[in-house]
Amino acid sequence: MEEVFILAIESSCDETSCAIVKNGKEVISNVVLSQIDIHTNFGGVVPEIASRNHVRNITIVIEECLNKANMKMEDITAIAVTYGPGLIGSLLIGLEAAKTLSFIYNKPLVPVHHIAGHIYANNLEKEMQYPVLALVISGGHTELVYLKEEYSFEVLGGTLDDAVGECYDKVARVIDVGYPGGPIIDKMATLGKPNYKLPLPLNDDSYNFSFSGLKSAVINLAHNEKQRGNSINKEDLSFAFQDVVSNILTKKTQKAIQNLNVKNFVIAGGVAANSGIRKKLQEMCEKEGVEFTFPKIEYCTDNAAMIGAAGYFAYKKGDTSSLDINAKSTVELS
Ligand code: KG4
Ligand code: ZN
Repeated sequence: MEEVFILAIESSCDETSCAIVKNGKEVISNVVLSQIDIHTNFGGVVPEIASRNHVRNITIVIEECLNKANMKMEDITAIAVTYGPGLIGSLLIGLEAAKTLSFIYNKPLVPVHHIAGHIYANNLEKEMQYPVLALVISGGHTELVYLKEEYSFEVLGGTLDDAVGECYDKVARVIDVGYPGGPIIDKMATLGKPNYKLPLPLNDDSYNFSFSGLKSAVINLAHNEKQRGNSINKEDLSFAFQDVVSNILTKKTQKAIQNLNVKNFVIAGGVAANSGIRKKLQEMCEKEGVEFTFPKIEYCTDNAAMIGAAGYFAYKKGDTSSLDINAKSTVELS
């Protein structure tokens, strides 16, 4: 295939983003407008406010992305867009913009699953070697996915309740350290000592995860200490929490690596930026003799470059769509 330039759009949550990616591996430009400062005031993403801001930002990011790349729409091969899962009002803005560009410039429309995007962020770092095992850990997802070959997905297991990132954000709220909690807890955990004990959640033989019990354990611990008139050591509690989370993620990932033919292990999603989780997974992969890849921090959280990377492989497979495709708030990766 000659050079393929994908213009990609991502708007599934609170980031409005547009990118141009060449051949699924080279980012020509990537523009992300984050609304994090707006939602911080509410302690979480407010869907109605998110979609209103996407309306405001979408044309700005597309224009800036083309300008930065010094390219015109005529230079683009196809348009990739996140169609789900995510906040429906947010998804619709990106999808409508992509459909409009596809219609006006007569370019193929390539719908991309948000999680496929997170996984393919790794291809921007290094070309993935199949079979691949991916651990997707974000604010909305916690999944182990097996890719036997290029752009094929088998979900091995996932969370039965809360996503890891959601749990990080909740714990941060309980100990009152700010939003989003992940990066703050991560930093505090490096300063903590093993003084609190928390249970290892859903420590069974499945590939599933459960984090709501762990969340309750942290809330109860904080509550009990308060009732006894003790102050909480926030660094130590962060350490204990991060230790349990990284242990269970590593344990289940290791089991999948041992049971399946895996050449390359990749992590994806906002929580993949976590230093403690990365360290434990890295050590495990060295022991198992599996190549470990992780995206640059800027491609861990939501961005359109990852959609452009996945979009290239979808386009190569012929996964294009007509303009009547709808956004989906929930949709299985397959
Ligand atoms: O992938 P993402 O940007 O959005 C979703 O698709 O959900 O992930 C956002 C999540 C938030 O919950 C945030 O707290 C978490 O990623 N996060 C982290 C770290 N950086 C971001 N969690 C743990 N450690 C970090 N360093
Ligand atoms: Zn995401």
